[in-house]
Amino acid sequence: LELQMNLEEIEKGGYDHFMLKEIYEQPRAIKDTYRGRLLADQGIIRMAGIDLNMEKFLNANRIIIVACGTSWHAGLVAEYIFEDLARIPVEVEYASEFRYRNPVITDKDVLIAISQSGETADTLAAIKLAKEKGAFVFGVCNVVGSSIARESDAGAYTHAGPEIGVASTKAFTTQITVLTLMALKLAKAKGVFSESRYHEYLTELETIPSKVEKALESNTLIEIIADVYKDSTNCLYLGRGYNFPVALEGALKLKEISYIHAEGYPAAEMKHGPIALIDEHMPVFVIATKKGHYEKVVSNIQEIKSRKGKIIAIVTEGDEQVRDLADHVIEVPETLESLTPLLTTIPLQLLSYHIAVMRNCNVDQPRNLAKSVTVE
Ligand code: G6P
Repeated sequence: LELQMNLEEIEKGGYDHFMLKEIYEQPRAIKDTYRGRLLADQGIIRMAGIDLNMEKFLNANRIIIVACGTSWHAGLVAEYIFEDLARIPVEVEYASEFRYRNPVITDKDVLIAISQSGETADTLAAIKLAKEKGAFVFGVCNVVGSSIARESDAGAYTHAGPEIGVASTKAFTTQITVLTLMALKLAKAKGVFSESRYHEYLTELETIPSKVEKALESNTLIEIIADVYKDSTNCLYLGRGYNFPVALEGALKLKEISYIHAEGYPAAEMKHGPIALIDEHMPVFVIATKKGHYEKVVSNIQEIKSRKGKIIAIVTEGDEQVRDLADHVIEVPETLESLTPLLTTIPLQLLSYHIAVMRNCNVDQPRNLAKSVTVE
């Protein structure tokens, strides 16, 4: 038993929990995921799984993304990326719903399955169904040789390394990295991108690991904020555009490991319901980075403030407008709008981690949850 414990300590590499270690591994994990694929100075993205099947992607009527949990959130981010950059229509589906609703699938569809473990039963069943109907199936998995990777017609691995914490962190950001590379590659092949825009994206993507590093520097501040809100019973997470899925993911992280009820919403939907919940006991986490509906999010913040809600905002470095309104601000470096999820996710991961630790929750193995759900 003692040996077992020592081994675990070694595996945690000096961190108290796997989750924290994995949060801190993200700069490296993202770099490992684009290494050998992103050749920014040559203006090349190398991905054999796409190159060999380029026609399938270019002739696709649409892309259907299926996934569960955090991977589904990565799929939602990908919807924005693929439509915005590559101009390909995308639908994102919970694998569990897709497989049972007699979906319309044709051989002109490309189905992307996203799964860290590559073993999620619903996602696996969804790709089998899509294959039967003639769709081309592309897997984005972390575990090499996993069932979903083997069942897919082609794919691209994330190179996050083993993820032990049940709450997914580095798998999420590396999934977004792979999906961004794919979208950029397709945008280039379709000719919908100017050379300069393409080049701008490639070079900016290379700066992301160091920007994630920078975002991690807010850890001490986040711990202080966590201490203020650790006894909350409800929390709201708001974001728009590319950061709407990040709001969902932030809420999921808090629910999973701290057992605090949390909901993510597109900021503009607040007025259609959640606003009724806001009072002085409601912390609202708002992603309010510059670019991407900034002014509109600022007016949402004003609405929360006038109802005495507590505002914790994730903002772009140097922001002043939101700082004046919010109770707390956490800065992330500036980047292209479509790459912001890779940065805005980081403080939300740390926040739920610290809250869970302060509430004495089992961070790495939360009650009732499993790392991979291989049965229905
Ligand atoms: C479980 C895990 C989640 C994960 C989801 C999908 O619910 O606890 O962290 O996001 O499964 O898993 P997958 O391996 O398919 O990404």
